Amino acid sequence: MPSDYAADDGHEALLETCSDSTRPHLASGWVGAKNRWRKRQDGQRWLSVCWHRLVQSCRFLTTRRFLSVLLVLITMSITYNIVIFYFENPVFPISSAWKEPRLLPLQMTCSALTETRRNLSKQPEHRSMAKLRIDAKVLLFVETIYSRLGRDIAELLVHNRIKYKVDVVGKSLPVLTNLDKGKFAVIVFENLTKYLTMDNWNRELLDKYCREYGVGVVGFHPVSEEVLIGSQLKGFPIFVHTKMNLKNAALNPASNVLRLTRAGETAWGNLPGNDWTVFAPNHSTYEPLEWASPNSELPSPFVSDHGAARLLYTVVQDHGTYDGIQRVLFGSGLGFWLHRLLLLDALTHLSQGQISLGLNRYVLIDIDDIFVGEKGTRLKPPDVEALLSSQKRLQAMVSGFKFNLGFSGMYFHHGTDEENAGEDLLMEHIDDFSWFSHMWNHKQPHLYDNYTHLEMDMKLNKNFATEKNIPTDSGYSVAPHHAGVYPVHEYLYEAWKKVWNVKVTSTEEYPHLRPARLRRGFIHRNIMVLPRQTCGLFTHTYLIEKYPGGREKLDENIQGGELFQSIVFNPINIFMTHMSNYGNDRLALYTFESVLKFTQCWTNLRLLSTLPVELGEKYFQMFPEEEDPIWGNPCDDSRHIKTWSHNKTCQQLPNFLVIGPQKTGTTALYSFLSMHPNINSNLNSIDTFEEIQFFNGKNYYRGLDWYMGFFPVPINSSSQYLFEKSATYFDGEQVPKRAHALLPQAKLVTILISPAKRAYSWYQHMRAHGDQVALNYSFYEVITASESSNRPLRDLRNRCLLPGKYSQHLERWLTYYSSSQLFIIDGEELRTAPVDVMNSVQKFLKITPPFDYATHLRFDKKKGFYCQIINEDKTKCLGRSKGRKYPQMDERSLKLLQVRS
Ligand code: A3P
Repeated sequence: MPSDYAADDGHEALLETCSDSTRPHLASGWVGAKNRWRKRQDGQRWLSVCWHRLVQSCRFLTTRRFLSVLLVLITMSITYNIVIFYFENPVFPISSAWKEPRLLPLQMTCSALTETRRNLSKQPEHRSMAKLRIDAKVLLFVETIYSRLGRDIAELLVHNRIKYKVDVVGKSLPVLTNLDKGKFAVIVFENLTKYLTMDNWNRELLDKYCREYGVGVVGFHPVSEEVLIGSQLKGFPIFVHTKMNLKNAALNPASNVLRLTRAGETAWGNLPGNDWTVFAPNHSTYEPLEWASPNSELPSPFVSDHGAARLLYTVVQDHGTYDGIQRVLFGSGLGFWLHRLLLLDALTHLSQGQISLGLNRYVLIDIDDIFVGEKGTRLKPPDVEALLSSQKRLQAMVSGFKFNLGFSGMYFHHGTDEENAGEDLLMEHIDDFSWFSHMWNHKQPHLYDNYTHLEMDMKLNKNFATEKNIPTDSGYSVAPHHAGVYPVHEYLYEAWKKVWNVKVTSTEEYPHLRPARLRRGFIHRNIMVLPRQTCGLFTHTYLIEKYPGGREKLDENIQGGELFQSIVFNPINIFMTHMSNYGNDRLALYTFESVLKFTQCWTNLRLLSTLPVELGEKYFQMFPEEEDPIWGNPCDDSRHIKTWSHNKTCQQLPNFLVIGPQKTGTTALYSFLSMHPNINSNLNSIDTFEEIQFFNGKNYYRGLDWYMGFFPVPINSSSQYLFEKSATYFDGEQVPKRAHALLPQAKLVTILISPAKRAYSWYQHMRAHGDQVALNYSFYEVITASESSNRPLRDLRNRCLLPGKYSQHLERWLTYYSSSQLFIIDGEELRTAPVDVMNSVQKFLKITPPFDYATHLRFDKKKGFYCQIINEDKTKCLGRSKGRKYPQMDERSLKLLQVRS
């Protein structure tokens, strides 16, 4: 009997008078801890039954009886109010039973959890001793680019950062080799039948490739239209039975495919879908990898002589002894969570370790707002004790684990007396946890448009920490709602560095919240920004019934679902939780203890934790390519725009870019465009003369605010156009990707002339600028410099010739932008007929009203080019550096370059 009820004698007495059938109702409503609403309903029902009984017993009323009935009624009424108050106010102090977690940790019968020490060294490394001449890349054959399983496979590869190429199975194969190197380490067929029925020529080619380069094949048996019983897989000594309904999957512990996945357990219950294919091999080359039991009656081939159902092989390994090619065949897609793990192991095994994921998984659990929460939802002493003991259990599973507590000092002691006592207890255990600074008042940093105020508030939190002996040297910080981290609020980075010496932070928002598998990290102003994972626990999910999808969904997330997969697929997991997740139903404790147990149960992963700064360093050692940020447009993401300063506007970004290349007439085009009353270019950069050169150099690291600072806010954004011209954008390796991330709708204008002429003009330009190499070597010597020539000469040659590889550069632009966004100007025409060119540019840009260039441009005989008309006799031409006089290109060079281009 729960103490609350036992304490009330009247209540006990009432229980005596009520029939037995009503008692279990209340008891089960309590013990079973369903939901509060149901409990209230149970309580009301129980009381109404009792009332009914009382009314019946009042038929023979005497004074004594009347008084005793009255007494009982009063007691009932008081009890009822107490019960209702309890149900409506879960934090009412008498409800000490609430301090017991309503969710007991997930019970798992898992051998890994009972072993004292798990032996991880046994796991195969798959790395072949032979030096394989293959790239760590998957070739994924799909039926169509829209097919479901194909997409699932591709998403899994992306999540695990495995490189891949998708090809639609068709008449031709993609190129499989590059010189003497194989381009793919594993071939995956979304539909196994397409592999089996490939035309002979392609199949022979593919098989030859697989044998020669030691490359294996993965195939998924498709969902079949008809029921196949004992049907042979074309050309192989193995039979299938389709449309099966299965349950209780387990893995073959003897299989050498298993590395990340741990065998020995059974996934009890029905397997998703009722169209599984099972395999019946007839050759020693096959070994089961996964098996399951039937959920329905079996046809004869799958029943033993004694009539017992055999274990059905749902995933099989082909050792390659039949035809020299190793394979893994799946009898169902990735709907079953275990298949995602098996696919990863199959890729490692079949690529002989070329595609291989590490087995270390780092887990950091942030409790963002340890003091922030409404009265009634905050931690009480028993919650803090539960937190400490859960931490101990987690430490046994995750080496080096400590909860990481974020604090906003202003909200300290803002709870009930009991909750404040909880915080006092927490303060007694400061050293048991890691700590990091949140904002003092929990205000979002992007709301500070005044740096001094932001810095002042940060200092208040630091003073609080110092006063309470909370460590201040973690080098880690987190902002409320991740505001100011991405999109970047420069003041936040500045103040973080100055006040807290922050070196690392984390966000879910880069580049976007969804899809989670694409979250990445970056470094800005020497602060490492790490991706965070979502665990499904938010500020308001403090009771199980508030968990989206309820208990069932939470357990699904834990047992093979999204949360479990997050730990498996991300080498570093930073989870965000809140104080309220640790009080009340203590959902976070339940969630993490359970999911980490499950991970131990089903995987060979080593669970580790360390300090955030070390995590940051590890992250960028693993993924150095992520160090450079990619700035997106905050207005293209509804979440980003909410955490962007109200004083900023996306209108301060260009509508079109003039991308070059150099020496084709870009300055002339720039000056003609600037004559247009509705077109504004950027302001000049003091660092790079007239061009900003944002997307291609170190200026990019200065961030979005810096770039936007060059553009005025248009008075009328629908009729005014902003543009930027940086002639080196054309051939900049990173530029198309970066430009597209920020300006996906922008239009692009490029000017092309003969690459030979362009190279020669550039050489003359370098000479005019006093470049010593250009002055010391003739044009011919520059363009014919070989790999044995001196470095400065080779560099000059490259800078002279590489921009002229027009098709290569245009191809790169066109992988990001559509061809309808690109306008190519003939540079010769720009020289000789600029009015016509400008008219077509205006048309392309859809600028209205059109500007009459015929009345604003005139050929200037002295300059030898078209110039801007100032008045009848006067024109304004480009400076001396444009349209230079220099000798004609020598014949040899011209011939050579014409042959090359
Ligand atoms: P040269 O100086 O070699 O003749 P950019 O501005 O991209 O650096 O290109 C410079 C080239 O623009 C000049 O190369 C010149 O030929 C060409 N050009 C085209 N129209 C021009 C104009 N109206 N005035 C000056 N130069 C022009």
